[in-house]
This record gives sequence, C-alpha cells and structure tokens, in this order.
Amino acid sequence: MLEALAAFAKLMLYAGALSGAGAAFAWASLGQRLGPVGKFAPHIVASGAGLTLLASFATILILIQRLGGEFSPPTISAVIGGPTGFAAGLQLAGAILLLAFARGQGWAWIARVTGGGLVVASFAVNGHAAAVDLVSGIVACVHVLATAWWLGALLLLRPACRQLTGAALDQLVHAFSRIASAVITNLLLAGVLLILTLVDFSHTPWLSPYGQTLAIKVSLATLVLGLALYNKVRLAPRLADDGGAAAITLRRSITAEIGLIAAVVSATSFLTTYTSPHT
Ligand code: HEM
Repeated sequence: MLEALAAFAKLMLYAGALSGAGAAFAWASLGQRLGPVGKFAPHIVASGAGLTLLASFATILILIQRLGGEFSPPTISAVIGGPTGFAAGLQLAGAILLLAFARGQGWAWIARVTGGGLVVASFAVNGHAAAVDLVSGIVACVHVLATAWWLGALLLLRPACRQLTGAALDQLVHAFSRIASAVITNLLLAGVLLILTLVDFSHTPWLSPYGQTLAIKVSLATLVLGLALYNKVRLAPRLADDGGAAAITLRRSITAEIGLIAAVVSATSFLTTYTSPHT
C-alpha cells in the first residue's frame, strides 16, 4: 500500500516538476514568438509548481510512514538530513519561486528559470543515478531538464495550433523545432549514459524486473520520438502553405505526443519506485 502511494507521489512529482519547470524554461526560450499563447504559461507554471509542492510533502510523509510512522526527532532528522529531504528542500524552494513569479513580467523570467532549475536540480541529489555518484546524478538532472523543456514547450504549442495562424504559427513551430533538436539529442545521450551507468550488462539485465520495466519505458519513449520526428519532418513544413488543416493535424499529433510522454513518465515512476538496477 505504502509503495503504491510512493509510486503515485513520484508520478505527481514528475508531472508537476516537468510541466511547471518545463513551462518556465519553454516560455523563457520561445519568448515573444508565443504571442497571445503566452497567457497560458503562468497557469501551467503555477499548477505544475503547486503539484510539485504537494507531491514533495507527500513523499516526505510516506517515507516517514515507511520508516515506522513515528514523527520523533530522530526519524524526522534522518529523513530531512537524507537525500529525499535534500531533494524535497530544493523542490520546495524551486516551487515557491515558480509560484511567486508565475505571472511576473520583465525580469521575473530569471526567477522562474531559477525556480525551475532548483526543482530539476533535485533529481541530481536523489534517485538511482544520484546514489552512484554526483556525476551520474547530474546526468539524470540533464535528462530531466531536457524532458521538462520538451513537455513544457508542447503544452504551449498545443494551444498555439488553435490560437495562431499562418506565419506566426510557422515561426513559432520552427523556433520550437530548432531548440527541440538540441534538447532531444541531450535527452537521448543522457538516457543512454544512465543505462550504461545503472545496468549491469554482465547479468542478463533484460530478465530482471528493472530491465523489463526499463525496456517498456524505452519502447514507449521510442514511439514519442518517432511521433516528434513525424511532426518535424512531415507536418511542420506544411504549416506555411496548408493553412488550418496542417495546424489541426499538428494539434492532434501534439496531444498524442503529450499522452505518450505521460505513459513514459508513468513507466518511469514504476521503474524508480518498485524496481532497482541492483536486484
Ligand atoms: C519521452 C521521453 C522520456 C521521458 C519523458 C523520460 C523521463 C524520465 C524521468 C522523469 C526520469 C526520472 C529521473 C529520476 O527520478 O531520477 C528518467 C530516468 C531515466 N530515463 Fe528517461 N525519459 C525519456 C526517455 C528516455 C530514453 C529514450 C532513455 C534511454 C535511452 C531513458 C532512460 C532513462 C534511464 C535509464 C533513467 C534512470 C532510471 C532510474 O533512476 O533507475 N529515458 N526518465
């Protein structure tokens, strides 16, 4: 029961952190090109940050329950002083910054990007990769940073397909594609590095629960990457001259992409809660 709750809290943490921090990063990088769609960004940043706060508190409470359920000073200081507590501190600080500056104009973007950075940095200090060494933790952090930007940008691009037309939509999608190529390359490189760090290839890894869940996750991720490639190569070039039809198809395809990313993130929360690369 506690494990199921922990997996659910992890899923909520991923959803909140990736959408909240990701929307802050995507908003900062796509900037003016978002036009009227920029009005959606504060809502995504704020709801992602709120979810991060809730999930982070829930994770601490669940860990205390797993350690015996006592709110005694030694248990609390063991939790707060450990990697989960450190990560929760970063998530808390980052989410508060995101919430406080979700709507701000001008320099507020620096506070939002810093807040998102703190939330993402929490993945460098807690988790399977962080348990190996700091460098592996940083690789996990880069992986999460890339997935956050990608999801945040898709959440903004989706309403843009309805709100923007012609050259404005074309320019936004091209700006997104340019940044996405670099971001997704980093996501993939970091993912491969994580596999090389965490998986022990001398022990038929694909027979272990960790190996099998990881294989499911990577298969789902391959589907998302295929769809992203289809959008970039087939749909994006049609936007300028195909008018509304290509935008409607792109919007549907982005909805499917977001749904598949949700499936990858669900598989990841199962992977990081129920299985271990060492058993
Ligand atoms: C849509 C694409 C993807 C998303 C949304 C995604 C998301 C994530 C997230 C949120 C984490 C958790 C980090 C943590 O809690 O420390 C993670 C870990 C990981 N990802 Fe991905 N990922 C994607 C694609 C990939 C790909 C393509 C690979 C492999 C090439 C990969 C390999 C891994 C590995 C090995 C881990 C570490 C799991 C562990 O800590 O045991 N991911 N991913």
